[in-house]
Amino acid sequence: MFGRAQPAHSPQPADAFAYLESIVDTVREPLIVLSKQLRVKTANRSFYRTFQVTPAQTETCCIYDLGNGQWNIPRLRTLLDEILSQNKSFESFEVDQEFPGIGRKSMLLNARRLRWEGHTGLILLAIEDITEPRRKENELKVSEVRYRRLFETAQDGILILDGETGKIIDLNPFLLELLGCTHAELLGKELWQLGLFGDIDLSQKAFQKLQDSGYIRYDDLPLEAKSGKRLEVEFVSNVYHVNHTKVIQCNIRDVTERKRIEEKLRYTQKLESLGVLAGGVAHDFNNLLTSILGNASLVLGELSPSSPHRSKLENLITAGQRAADLTRQLVAYAGKGPFIVAPVDLSDLVRQISNLVRASMPKNVQLRLDLQDNLPGVQADSSQIQQLIMNLIINGAEALGEEQGGTVVVTTGVQQVDDHFQDAFAPKEILPGKYICLEVHDTGYGMDEETKAKIFDPFFTTKFTGRGLGLAAVSGIVRVHRGALKVYSTPGKGTTFKVLLPAAEEKSLKEAGAIPQKDLTGSGLILVVDDEEMVGRTAKSVLRRYGYTVLMAENGRLALDVFREIADQVRLVLLDLNMPVMGGEETLRQLKLIHADVRVLLSSGYNEMEAVRLFTGKGLVGFIQKPYTAAQLAGKIRAALEAA
Ligand SMILES: Nc1ncnc2c1ncn2[C@@H]1O[C@H](COP(=O)(O)OP(=O)(O)O)[C@@H](O)[C@H]1O
Ligand SMILES: [Mg+2]
Repeated sequence: MFGRAQPAHSPQPADAFAYLESIVDTVREPLIVLSKQLRVKTANRSFYRTFQVTPAQTETCCIYDLGNGQWNIPRLRTLLDEILSQNKSFESFEVDQEFPGIGRKSMLLNARRLRWEGHTGLILLAIEDITEPRRKENELKVSEVRYRRLFETAQDGILILDGETGKIIDLNPFLLELLGCTHAELLGKELWQLGLFGDIDLSQKAFQKLQDSGYIRYDDLPLEAKSGKRLEVEFVSNVYHVNHTKVIQCNIRDVTERKRIEEKLRYTQKLESLGVLAGGVAHDFNNLLTSILGNASLVLGELSPSSPHRSKLENLITAGQRAADLTRQLVAYAGKGPFIVAPVDLSDLVRQISNLVRASMPKNVQLRLDLQDNLPGVQADSSQIQQLIMNLIINGAEALGEEQGGTVVVTTGVQQVDDHFQDAFAPKEILPGKYICLEVHDTGYGMDEETKAKIFDPFFTTKFTGRGLGLAAVSGIVRVHRGALKVYSTPGKGTTFKVLLPAAEEKSLKEAGAIPQKDLTGSGLILVVDDEEMVGRTAKSVLRRYGYTVLMAENGRLALDVFREIADQVRLVLLDLNMPVMGGEETLRQLKLIHADVRVLLSSGYNEMEAVRLFTGKGLVGFIQKPYTAAQLAGKIRAALEAA
């Protein structure tokens, strides 16, 4: 500042001050010249403008008395004293003060002694207003802190790479936690060393693509954490420049849980649509099989014991029954089924089933029962639960195999489910409460994870002869009974299926006595209500064969017309549940209105659990599941007529 103003030849001291004054005035920064007593000798225009003061308020005043005494700062006093006493100077002394009229300002002070003859005591004080740059600096600091915080607290992983080398220069805490690594472990590493792109090649390709287009996005990259935990992440990366330096930012979002839920939803939707399909097919099959089995058993009954056609017919019936079994599995898988819900004793059911299954088990395979007595009942459809038990026991026996042999153990018991227990099952899979537990354990070949993931899919089988419907049906049955199901299996060691079914409120009721099989004939008028002509016709021939008189009605309304006329003569109504015009439920209600004591045997191959729940306690004397054989129908009719 002074260098520029230095004249070619030194002026005389007398003019010197005026000369200095004129230079000082042209300088854009505020300047003042102080006397030895630290009084203002002169100040420049910029000073007056900056501090909004007049020469009268300023000149001859001691610097410490200027304004509101804003320069009266101990440190400044010392510095100025040192200039006077030791001929020092100072630079960049920062003053941050409230100034009258102009508010809070940051000022940078430079001072030095002016020396020439006669003016040895003058001090030149240059002042620089740095309020604005300081404010910007400060704003930048605040913004830096703010964005740091965003980075530090983000619930997404953030990774900063050097745009040229691709090496990691920063990672946020969330990412470190996700990966289970420390900052130091990853700093300076390459992207692929995070285990993100599987290998170097892929990672380099991704890096190249990013360099070319400035942006890449992957919706699901596998990522392995240090612990070995596998995650799926969404990866978005873009390139930007900071002061000509290329920086790459990558955002990594953990989508493992979201993907899992999506997968589950897809699976549920698949189940639903398969269920609708299976249910529809099964419904039609049931009607066809009712006719096939009914007629075949009728013919068989009419053949003489020595007839050569007997065995062929028996084969036909066996095949029909196998088809009916498959249909039943499909119906169960679909979550449909003829439901008569009553308290069922699970231990009793296992005992009954075991007698049936034992006969067909290979010799090497034992069935051991470990059943708890006096179990609380399960609100369930007993035929479906039987089906469930049977499917699990057969699978266990098959896993043991004829050669190796071994034991299938069936256990029943009570299981209290609390919040802690839920952990073993998927969350929300099971509500807290009291459950009856059924475990079927084998020491067979077990399953690997891949198999285990698919076993409940309909038609999934690893067996040569299997059909893959057993466990699909089991899962459907558990679902409609609001239970839960869990599989524990180790390849080569064995498998345990654990089923939980909600316990009924009251103590288990004994089921009505078994139907006497011997003499199934009877008499009297039966009203058969069914919209399927084939089913109706079959029922009619079966019932005639067993000695009954039969009247047919092809829908509920017609049935009511008939019943109104001859209610006192009808011994029993065989009522189909699903019919057009008037469904079984409404028909039953109307029949009861006409004659409160009417005996109704419900028949169906297909219905929602809720719908039939409505029937319990509404005067049904029984239920027969389609398809049925002649003997089954006759048996049910007899039992229904004999019931009080
Ligand atoms: N107890 C078990 N031990 C080992 N694997 C089993 C067991 N139960 C079921 N599985 C597996 O699940 C598959 C599906 O079973 P399932 O639905 O009953 O059909 P299927 O028995 O007709 O094959 C079987 O093929 C088998 O691979
Ligand atoms: Mg099976």
